[in-house]
Amino acid sequence: MEKHHIDVMIDEDAVNNRIKELGEQISRDYADREVYLICILKGSVYFTCELAKRITVPVIMDFMQCSSYGAATKSSGVVKLSKDLDMAITDRDVIIIEDIIDSGRTLNHLKDLLGQRNPASLKICTLLDKPSRRVVDVDVDYTGFRIEDKFVVGYGLDYDQLYRNLPYIGVVEFD
Ligand code: IMP
Ligand code: MG
Repeated sequence: MEKHHIDVMIDEDAVNNRIKELGEQISRDYADREVYLICILKGSVYFTCELAKRITVPVIMDFMQCSSYGAATKSSGVVKLSKDLDMAITDRDVIIIEDIIDSGRTLNHLKDLLGQRNPASLKICTLLDKPSRRVVDVDVDYTGFRIEDKFVVGYGLDYDQLYRNLPYIGVVEFD
């Protein structure tokens, strides 16, 4: 592993406060309904759990795994589905929960795939967005933070599987 260190980009309080706001917004938007949250493994685990705790309408959680990244910090452009949902989403109000949108390929692919299963509605919620990196257009309904083009870790995001457990968003700086 290349020599590097981690600088704080968004501290723990700021992340938690923003997630609280997103939870409140989703609770208002889905008043009197039930939301079906799809956590995209592994990166969205922390975000999905914290967000779900802040949602006051009934929540169902399901998990899906799909990868477009290898061990490096560059996207391969190939999206592979390695774990599908456990339940059917027909007539459900679905929100896909992502850790970060980079090229947009992963979400574009997932939205197409899940849209074919006839949910009542299908929205996207991401903790982070790097709009300058977009290759494929995606409509994002809820965004935690828009960030510049830096490789970030923490709050579920990894660098070669490490740092997911950091309670803040950090930037990987190569020494
Ligand atoms: P996309 O398909 O290019 O939008 O890539 C999305 C996925 O790439 C995310 O779910 C992350 O797993 C990974 N990714 C993109 N940028 C970063 C980053 O800065 N840090 C860690 N993972 C990232
Ligand atoms: Mg990921």
